[in-house]
Amino acid sequence: MGRIVAISAAAILLCSGCSAQEEPKAADVKAEMLQHVQPAAETFWNAVQFISDGNGSREIVPQTAAEWQEVIEGARALKKYGATLQGPEYAAGRGADWKDYAKGLVDVAGQAEAAAQSHDPDKVLEVGGTLYNVCSACHEVYMPNPVSVAPGVPTDEKTGTQP
Ligand code: HEC
Repeated sequence: MGRIVAISAAAILLCSGCSAQEEPKAADVKAEMLQHVQPAAETFWNAVQFISDGNGSREIVPQTAAEWQEVIEGARALKKYGATLQGPEYAAGRGADWKDYAKGLVDVAGQAEAAAQSHDPDKVLEVGGTLYNVCSACHEVYMPNPVSVAPGVPTDEKTGTQP
């Protein structure tokens, strides 16, 4: 039964892609996310961490100009991917809000770049939170089974049994 539900859901998804224009393939978005967007976001998210455990509290902060540069590059890459996602190969067949979400990524990536350029750990943490919200906002609408993309956060259970 679960299997039948899953197949019919997939059929509906495929058919929502039936139009005269060539549709973006969901697999392409996923590949772009997994190969490019997620790694760049993790570079930014992992750069500054406050850790509190049995050994007390400590913070991870970029130590050298080269380490900060990596964070800056991660933010710049996200800016580029936000622009890429606005292209027709990704935006075709989506609602108008798709481009808004992608623009949101460009905007927050600009803030991320500025935070890294100022070598300000608090700012990097703060923008990192905003970045996460921007990712999630698009996923809420466009990801078939939204999963959490933040590092260290367990992924949601996939139910796949909606009526
Ligand atoms: C403009 C919309 C949009 C934005 C912005 C966006 N994503 Fe995505 N993302 C998607 C869509 C759509 C999928 C689902 C692709 C699929 O499964 O076909 C996805 C899937 C993913 C996946 C794969 C999840 C899985 O395992 O199935 C990861 C990881 C991911 N996104 C990370 C991110 C991160 C990190 C950000 C922010 C830095 C982000 N995304 C911003 C649209 C977006």
